[in-house]
Amino acid sequence: EKGGYDHFMLKEIYEQPKAYRDTMRGRVSEDGKSVTLSELSMTPEQIRAFRRVHIVACGTAMHAGMVGKTIIEQLARLPVETDVASEYRYRSPIITPDTLVIVVSQSGETADTLAALREAKRCGARVLAITNVVGSSVAREADDTIVTLAGPEIAVASTKAYTSQLIAFYLFGLYLAQTLGTRDEAFVANMLAAMQALPEQVERILAQAETIKEIADAIAHNRSLFFIGRGVDYAVALEGSLKLKEISYIHSEAYAAGELKHGTLALIEEGVPVIALLTQEELFEKTISNIKETKARGANVLGIYNEGQEAEVAKSVDSQFAIPRTLPLLTPALSVVPLQLLSYYASLALGHDVDKPRNLAKSVTVE
Ligand code: F6R
Repeated sequence: EKGGYDHFMLKEIYEQPKAYRDTMRGRVSEDGKSVTLSELSMTPEQIRAFRRVHIVACGTAMHAGMVGKTIIEQLARLPVETDVASEYRYRSPIITPDTLVIVVSQSGETADTLAALREAKRCGARVLAITNVVGSSVAREADDTIVTLAGPEIAVASTKAYTSQLIAFYLFGLYLAQTLGTRDEAFVANMLAAMQALPEQVERILAQAETIKEIADAIAHNRSLFFIGRGVDYAVALEGSLKLKEISYIHSEAYAAGELKHGTLALIEEGVPVIALLTQEELFEKTISNIKETKARGANVLGIYNEGQEAEVAKSVDSQFAIPRTLPLLTPALSVVPLQLLSYYASLALGHDVDKPRNLAKSVTVE
């Protein structure tokens, strides 16, 4: 049942190229120039009436939602707020009939997410669900559903569901852009072409799993570590940190790289591992400065960056891992993969039950 892999988590990490392809299949026009989401019942008029978007989810699905915020803001120029579902209802969110509420849930059964969905509907908002389970509660109650085609996810730690949620956000963001006219056909075609290249690029990362394993073996005995990044790299840092915590039980924190010096830098001392994401060209120099701040205090830095920048990165880090080149908005679909492998191998090195971490359930049906 694990298809030759030692754990479901590893199997599911390796299923990601297929999950990307399956989630894109039939949703890109034959000429590669536009997105077709025939499952959506929302009309172009309804789309044009949206004034804001709320993205609500829990845990890893929330981290996908944070990338989703950047995707929708950049592609469709609509203001997006994100909220964890357990907070959303209790802060009297301003939900109006011109709000599109997107709930993201692998299982489609998470109690907090379902409650947030119901609150959104009560306030007259239109609800779009991104879920991996056809016929789940979330899918049944939402006005529209985009099903991620990741296939069943068994390991408690979510991997292929997260990356498939990213693919769904890219598709939906482009769909909004082409409907609203915020991006032209050439832009959409270019981004779709870059998306089609992602599965093969993930395969290239997976082929280097041994490199990540060595790094994981080296950090597994640290008590605490840090993930830093800016922009979408920060959202991926949050996901990398959560993954490590939940299956290896190593304490870690994710920080927006520029925020470190406002307090948390005090925790950096000799030998503390810092995993720095540097995939956003525009923010590269700024993040390098933040890396230097940690290096000055003895941090042991792993840099994750776009291939071709080996020389610039080598000067400032202790170890490095390059991801294949893609568009800046698409890097999360690649950069998270080494972080998934890192947490997997760290958990393995410590002898933990990778697929069934302590205290956690696959589907959280209590609030
Ligand atoms: C972490 C993880 C959880 C889930 C969260 C939401 O690896 O799996 O953080 O992402 O419990 O679950 P769903 O997506 O089923 O609503």
